[in-house]
This record gives sequence, structure tokens and C-alpha cells, in this order.
Amino acid sequence: MPTEANIPGSPKALVEVRELRKSFDGNQVLKGISVGFRERQTTVVLGPSGCGKSVLLKHLIGLLRPDSGEVFFDGERVDTIPEKHMTPLRRQFGFLFQMGALFDSFDVRGNIEFPLREAGIEDPAERERRVEEVLAMVGLESTISMMPADLSGGQRKRIALARSIVLRPRVILYDEPTTGLDPIRSDVINELILKLQQQLSATSIVVTHDLTSAFKVADHMILLLGGRVVMEGPPEAFRDPEEPEIRRFMEGRASEEELRAIRTSNPPIEVHT
Ligand SMILES: Nc1ncnc2c1ncn2[C@@H]1O[C@H](COP(=O)(O)OP(=O)(O)O)[C@@H](O)[C@H]1O
Ligand SMILES: [Mg+2]
Repeated sequence: MPTEANIPGSPKALVEVRELRKSFDGNQVLKGISVGFRERQTTVVLGPSGCGKSVLLKHLIGLLRPDSGEVFFDGERVDTIPEKHMTPLRRQFGFLFQMGALFDSFDVRGNIEFPLREAGIEDPAERERRVEEVLAMVGLESTISMMPADLSGGQRKRIALARSIVLRPRVILYDEPTTGLDPIRSDVINELILKLQQQLSATSIVVTHDLTSAFKVADHMILLLGGRVVMEGPPEAFRDPEEPEIRRFMEGRASEEELRAIRTSNPPIEVHT
């Protein structure tokens, strides 16, 4: 079945999943997801915590394998590639993970150089040029010799982002890029997502539950609820959705059931956020 992104006239889906299903210990997290991520566009995947957004991203680069369903990159099936042959595929992707961890014992230069060394770029001058180039892109040239511990949270995210794009990936995956940042720092990250999109002509996939960020960066939006895609379309369509469950998520309201559980619990229940 063609996804919307495959309809003639709309941009090609560079990354696509079809009927993706994944369970952990009998808990079905992805219940048959089909989505196309359009080339050179920014697709935002929205959904509450725990709905399977990170699980979905990990399938795109083979960090998780589907129970059933298929994953495609540039028209080629990739979920069946053996782990030992995944490197060429993974090099097409830059990923900014939720925990965007830098190597604490390396300075900023060492962190950003790391993927260049791994990719076999031997010439130190070439590596230095590329480190400087991506640092300029994220606006942090002055931090080149600093240690991660001396950077702010927002700066660390930007350095992690610089590292993720240093091999010029075709796709950039952002997993909750603004989580844990204050609104100003979040806005800086949103601006960077937009700017890198332009400068690198990348295909960007942004997973988030931050609606402000979503509306700022999205060309296209997808909402995951209960392990399924419940809505897909242009951002404007998400501003005033008709379906009550979708409205509730977009307006940030808990369900009556969730509220009742909290109000009536005694002793207080643990609330997972
Ligand atoms: N490797 C794993 N093993 C077991 N359960 C997992 C694993 N990864 C994710 N899960 C479970 O899958 C569900 C979705 O997780 P996740 O994709 O991280 O949610 P989010 O939408 O917040 O990113 C959660 O219930 C989580 O506990
Ligand atoms: Mg997650």
C-alpha cells in the first residue's frame, strides 16, 4: 500500500517503514506503523512519553529489529541487513540521541573528530577543517578546546549535534532535542534544526513531545498514540484537530481516567513523566 509520501507529485520518501510491529516482553509498543519520511523535509513525530518514538527511530538505523514489517532507505530494504554490514547505512544518518552523551575525557575537538577518525579520515588538517566547519554551523567555535564538563546543557547538545553532522549525513535524527532545556535554549536548538536543514539539505526526523518546537520546525507532522499513527499531515492540520483524543494530546490535557486515578489515590501513586 503506498504511503502518502509515495503518491506521485509529492516528495519521495527517503526513509520509510511499513507495517512495523515491535513488542517487548509481550507489550506491543509499535502496532503496525507505516510512514514515509520525505526527502529534504523535516518530519516531526509527536507523541506522549513511552509511546514508542525512540523505538521507532532505532528501527531506522538497525539498532532495533522489527518483529514484523519492513524498513527502507532510499528504496532499499534495510531491516534485513546483518549487523556487521550496517556501517555504510548508519553513515548516512546523523543521530542526536536523547541522552546526547559526549565523551567526558575528550575535549570538544576530540569529540567531533571521533567520527572522522572512525570513517578513516587520516589527514589531521582535513579533520581540523571539518571540526571548525561544524562548530561554526552550531555557533560554538570558541569552545573547541573546552571539556564537556565545562559546557552548559544547551552547549553540550549543540556539540553533540555538530558531531552528528560532521560526516554530512543525508538524514538527521533528533530524539527529543529540546528536552531538559529552558525555552530560550530550546529555541536556539529549533533555529539550528531549521538552519542545518537548509545548509545540508538533509532529511530531518524530529521526535518530540514539545509542541512549540514541533510547530517551529515541521514541514510535516505525524502523531503516534497507543502504538499507531493516529494522524499525519501538514502542521496547520494539527492546530485544531477534530478527534477528541488528538485534541487532548495537542492541548496537553490528561484523560479523565488519569486525573481520577491521581485524585482518588491514597497513598499517593507514583506518577511517571
Ligand atoms: N530495549 C527495550 N527493552 C524493553 N522495553 C523497551 C525497550 N525500549 C523501549 N522499551 C519500552 O517501549 C516503550 C516505548 O519506549 P520509547 O520508544 O523509549 O518511548 P518514547 O516515545 O518516550 O521515546 C516503553 O514502554 C519502553 O519501556
Ligand atoms: Mg524517547
